[in-house]
Amino acid sequence: MLNKNLTLGEFIIKNQSSFKYSSGELSSLINSIRLAAKIVNHEVNKAGLVDIIGETGDENIQSEKQQKLDVYANNKFIKTLVNRNIVCGIASEEEENFISINSIDKKNQNKYIVLIDPLDGSSNIDVNVSVGTIFSIYRRKSKIGSEVELNDFLQFGRDQVAAGYIIYGTSTMLVYTTGNGVNGFTLNPAIGTFYHSHSNLSIPKDGKIYSINEGNYLQFPEFVKKYIKFCQEEKNERPYTSRYIGSLVSDFHRNMIKGGIFLYPQTLKNPNGKLRLLYECNPIAFICEQAGGIATNGYKNILDIEPELLHQRTPFYCGSEKMVKDLQKFI
Ligand code: AHG
Ligand code: MN
Ligand code: MN
Repeated sequence: MLNKNLTLGEFIIKNQSSFKYSSGELSSLINSIRLAAKIVNHEVNKAGLVDIIGETGDENIQSEKQQKLDVYANNKFIKTLVNRNIVCGIASEEEENFISINSIDKKNQNKYIVLIDPLDGSSNIDVNVSVGTIFSIYRRKSKIGSEVELNDFLQFGRDQVAAGYIIYGTSTMLVYTTGNGVNGFTLNPAIGTFYHSHSNLSIPKDGKIYSINEGNYLQFPEFVKKYIKFCQEEKNERPYTSRYIGSLVSDFHRNMIKGGIFLYPQTLKNPNGKLRLLYECNPIAFICEQAGGIATNGYKNILDIEPELLHQRTPFYCGSEKMVKDLQKFI
């Protein structure tokens, strides 16, 4: 039962025993993410007032221009996780290589690793549109106490222990799953506390919203072009409504609540798609599946793709079950 007086901190403690591997470590880890989220939220909220808007002048490993807030959020999440001695490894969109905490703290006995997109939708910062943070958590595969290895990060999405996102929107929410359904918490900014606002979120089986950057239409594979025309046909419940914010977190969140499909296909510019498997698609796919939806690259369930690279990209289609199945009929 939903109790809107329950704080995220209380919820974590109450549900600790339902984690796949029950130990206080994962609870502390989610608590650390909660803390970093509040710090980043505070900065995002006053973006227009402080010198945090715009580009840094640098590019990240994927040749994307880094925004000041990308770097700020990256530093805050990494610092919080390192300082609280809560993980053994971190990989981030903004870092070329993964970070092994054991090289900083030789006595580190933690078993979890985190993959993170510290600021998702960063092209929207300067124009006061919702952005987000996405995170994915695994147990390490290598021996506890040793340096983490690339293989600790290249795990199947299916093996995630927890995943979630923060959406810095009209209100700020933290949404996450540990494999027992999806729960959402809304921040009361006056007192800096997240409250349980959405219990057992489920995505409607069918929907009327399709979300895609249609500016790339001419570059899309045939089946996507056909599906877009299907969405636009005047038949049955169609035409559908097109909604595209350009922040995966925000687009997915809306579709999860209202019913819809999100599409980011391969294009000529991005032959493997644009979105990153490990810290964008996998966590969103895990949440989507936990909410009753489907996430696929067109041919394979996202959670069953074997990762080969830290910053690997993939085409991404996810959302309401019926809509994703309709899309797949055109393949
Ligand atoms: P990021 O800001 O972390 O690089 O991610 C941006 C992503 C994603 O949030 C969004 O869905 C997509 O890029 C938008 O891409 P287009 O501008 O090509 O539509
Ligand atoms: Mn992103
Ligand atoms: Mn990002």
